[in-house]
Amino acid sequence: MTKLDTWRVGILFSTSGVTSIIEKSQLNGALLAIDEINSAGGVRGRTIEPVAYDPGSVVKRYGELAERLIVDDKINVIFGCYMSSTRKEVLPIVERRNALFFYPTLYEGFEYSSNVMYGGATPNQNSVPLANYLMETFGKRIYFVGSDYIYPRESNRVMRNVIRQGGGEVVGEEYVPLTAGVARFKSVISNIQKVKPDAIFSTVVGQGCINFYSAYHKAGGRGIECPIASLTTNEGEIAEIGAEASVGHITAAPYFRSIDSEANRKFLDSYRNKFGTISDVTSCCEASYCQMHMFARALSECGELDTDALRDALLGMTFQAPQGEIKIDPDNNHTYLQSRIAIVDENGEFDIKNMVRHMIKPDPYLVYPEIDDWSLRTLEIAERHRSG
Ligand code: ACM
Repeated sequence: MTKLDTWRVGILFSTSGVTSIIEKSQLNGALLAIDEINSAGGVRGRTIEPVAYDPGSVVKRYGELAERLIVDDKINVIFGCYMSSTRKEVLPIVERRNALFFYPTLYEGFEYSSNVMYGGATPNQNSVPLANYLMETFGKRIYFVGSDYIYPRESNRVMRNVIRQGGGEVVGEEYVPLTAGVARFKSVISNIQKVKPDAIFSTVVGQGCINFYSAYHKAGGRGIECPIASLTTNEGEIAEIGAEASVGHITAAPYFRSIDSEANRKFLDSYRNKFGTISDVTSCCEASYCQMHMFARALSECGELDTDALRDALLGMTFQAPQGEIKIDPDNNHTYLQSRIAIVDENGEFDIKNMVRHMIKPDPYLVYPEIDDWSLRTLEIAERHRSG
């Protein structure tokens, strides 16, 4: 029976299948925020009640379950999705039914929907600084390896343009199935070893990412010689790969668990108290946590689960996040985020080497010329890292 005294929200993160490691962390981020909100008295005296389904990392299940949440469960606010292919399944459903969908994952950009709040980084916030950092620090010959779906292919299109703008060259590009095991990466790694790039840019996600890094290490690949750089290799995947095979590899993200700040310590303490560990805390987990808190604040302002009223309350909202200050951009529903680059150290922890001093405006369509300012800023920091 429906509890009328709660605010019900839908949650669609996979706790099984190829992307379950990262999606479990997103689920935990959302549940932690709900716990914090409810133990502080809820919203206008009512608690938030999550209604969660497991799509099993199966793309079409996300669409089916979004429909079920909206039509059968009568819920019009949904948090969920990691892979862009799964977001694309949910998109037409939330648009047709005017629901509000929170997507706490970095993605390839080139999308806007008034029904979506985009909480992860767009390419100007992560790909551009990472490309500049790689080329300045390691060299200009970059090899692309990705899982075969929309995010890696589109993200690589953007990355290829940025690398060319910076005078670099893409010396190889390969895609593997989402389910690729260690053996599937043998030929990929042998091609990489023949071409000898300065760095590898990986958009391999989920279990495939763990298999790729493990196979690379097994074949003699070392991060300190030719690093694998990524936007999707988070703390959860590194914990599975292990410190020895991960050391020297690079990730660009708004948030790392290793951020040394009061706000992050508070977040991690709260996470540890609820889940008993912080080993799976990732940037996508933090994004999910932040989006739930921002939603609750919007709900408290408008007092109803009305998509249009909630959107009005959300646009322009700022939030003191574990990563630092963030803000929902009223121009495009994406989020101003911090930007950091980190290298895995010998303990398997991300050592942050590079960060911006302020949140970066999301530019999902890469229309603004500030891209050049980015390269200058990143260059300065890379120089400092090399000399320090
Ligand atoms: C992704 O598919 N947006 C990581």
